[in-house]
Amino acid sequence: MAESRRWRRVALQITLASTLAYGVAGAQSTDKKRTNAPVAGKYVGPGSCGATACHGSVQPRSLTRVLQNEYSTWVTKDAHFKALHSLDNAVSQRMGRLLGIENPATSPKCLACHALAVPAELKLREFDVEGVSCESCHGPASAWLDSHVLKGWTPQKSFALGMLDLNDATLRSEKCLSCHLGTAENEVDHKMIAAGHPDLVFELDSYSAIQPPHWKPAADPNHDVRLWAVGQAIQLREALKRLARHAQGASWPEFTEYSCFGCHHSLTKPETSWRQERGYPHRAAGSPPWDSAHYIVFRILARDVDASASQQLEAQLETLYQLTSSLNGPPKSIAEKAAAASDLANRFAVEIAQASFDRGRAGRLLKSISDQGDTISNEDTRSAEQAAMALDTIFLSYEKQAGSQPEVRAAIDGLFRELNNPSSYDAPRFSAQMRKVSAALRDAGIASQ
Ligand code: HEC
Ligand code: HEC
Ligand code: HEC
Ligand code: HEC
Repeated sequence: MAESRRWRRVALQITLASTLAYGVAGAQSTDKKRTNAPVAGKYVGPGSCGATACHGSVQPRSLTRVLQNEYSTWVTKDAHFKALHSLDNAVSQRMGRLLGIENPATSPKCLACHALAVPAELKLREFDVEGVSCESCHGPASAWLDSHVLKGWTPQKSFALGMLDLNDATLRSEKCLSCHLGTAENEVDHKMIAAGHPDLVFELDSYSAIQPPHWKPAADPNHDVRLWAVGQAIQLREALKRLARHAQGASWPEFTEYSCFGCHHSLTKPETSWRQERGYPHRAAGSPPWDSAHYIVFRILARDVDASASQQLEAQLETLYQLTSSLNGPPKSIAEKAAAASDLANRFAVEIAQASFDRGRAGRLLKSISDQGDTISNEDTRSAEQAAMALDTIFLSYEKQAGSQPEVRAAIDGLFRELNNPSSYDAPRFSAQMRKVSAALRDAGIASQ
């Protein structure tokens, strides 16, 4: 099981170039639960959290309910710590030259996602700009910093004072996506990617696992499946909002809305082209396809959670696919339809956050996803990647409850091997491996119901 998680770290780094964005201070959920807006405090900087007796212990401690070595984990293992330094590296400097940005390491455009860069009036005191730090995710600390260590204090009291409840999968997902997908204010577009920025790929549970966690694992064995499921719904909702923004923006068609590998794949002889063999359903031959990775696996989850609403979603997505998968689709209509589908995805997010997740549902999802192997494989690398990450996450959770199943694990690990070279991804091979996953699940008696 460690195999696939390790793979991700490497593979996610080598995949073709990668979004969110509102200022660090601006994360506002549309979630109905948050109508009582918390008191927004000011930022104090990560140095205020890093004392040895607070979160800067070298070893995990057991004095309180938290590990207390969060700061050390962040400094030594978390990519967010080095996010600011990345703006100094050769790739960033060249990106700067190509985009006309004099110094990426001091440019607000880059700092918005690579640092806790907040305006002076939101700082309680002066602190050095560092990478993406504690308050970038947990919220400004001035209002709860002193009191959150008091005896009898509860996290809920801190939440009312501006700490973000990151145990809530919806809020966590929105926070991560603010940088990993982008917002209206901060984004990574194709121009930036062509200049050298990595492509933005995200999946909440996998990315939480490789951050790595500086928190204790949840007691509920189904926790990670719920995280994945809510993350999928929020990611679709936000991706559709982004499509609506782009369609009405100045640079439409914006290529980050399309499948990267629709344009960036290696060419073969016609006799060996799986794309020509597959055909071009719902679009003209050779037109760039809308990026289906945002929903290709989610639609299976949606069907399991709410079959009738999922039909409505399918119909909306199909229309959007047809309109978007040509470079001259009608922008206004795309924007309207994307906004409507985004609202529906949000209804799913609310429903999924309240749904029960158990071993039965995990088994059903494993079966339905692997049974859709042909459809998923025929999209592209990013869709296949989402399926591999989903199967991995759900199976890890299933194994915790039902014991290990080495054949299934080996078949799922085999999916990741098919993704090592994204531009020469081969759909029939991925599909054959999905069939092996299906067969292994059947042999193990999983999801035979
Ligand atoms: C303020 C913006 C911001 C927020 C919020 C944010 N990230 Fe990131 N994240 C980044 C940046 C920038 C990097 C790249 C760091 C580098 O290597 O320079 C990154 C890198 C990562 C990586 C490493 C990816 C790799 O290729 O190894 C993971 C994993 C990750 N983030 C997970 C998360 C998760 C999970 C959340 C939400 C809990 C989150 N991030 C929230 C900006 C953010
Ligand atoms: C919308 C948020 C956002 C903006 C704006 C942004 N980045 Fe990033 N950047 C990210 C995220 C998220 C990652 C990590 C991607 C991953 O690994 O999944 C990243 C990764 C990178 C990396 C790769 C780091 C590594 O570990 O190899 C470089 C280099 C980089 N960004 C440079 C820049 C530069 C230069 C700018 C400004 C021109 C910029 N970024 C603007 C979000 C952003
Ligand atoms: C990229 C986002 C991100 C950054 C940066 C970050 N955290 Fe976290 N942190 C999380 C997430 C997600 C959780 C899990 C929340 C949960 O499940 O309750 C968490 C959990 C925690 C917890 C445990 C909370 C609990 O109630 O169990 C502590 C303490 C903590 N973080 C402190 C820190 C400190 C200190 C820093 C800076 C050194 C930091 N975090 C940086 C995202 C982040
Ligand atoms: C509609 C076609 C199209 C789509 C879709 C598209 N690109 Fe591009 N991309 C191009 C073109 C054209 C260039 C310029 C190539 C050149 O100058 O040689 C380019 C350039 C690039 C480059 C720099 C070229 C290089 O060899 O380093 C990268 C990296 C890149 N794109 C990544 C992506 C990613 C990631 C996506 C998906 C998020 C994507 N592209 C989507 C057409 C596309």
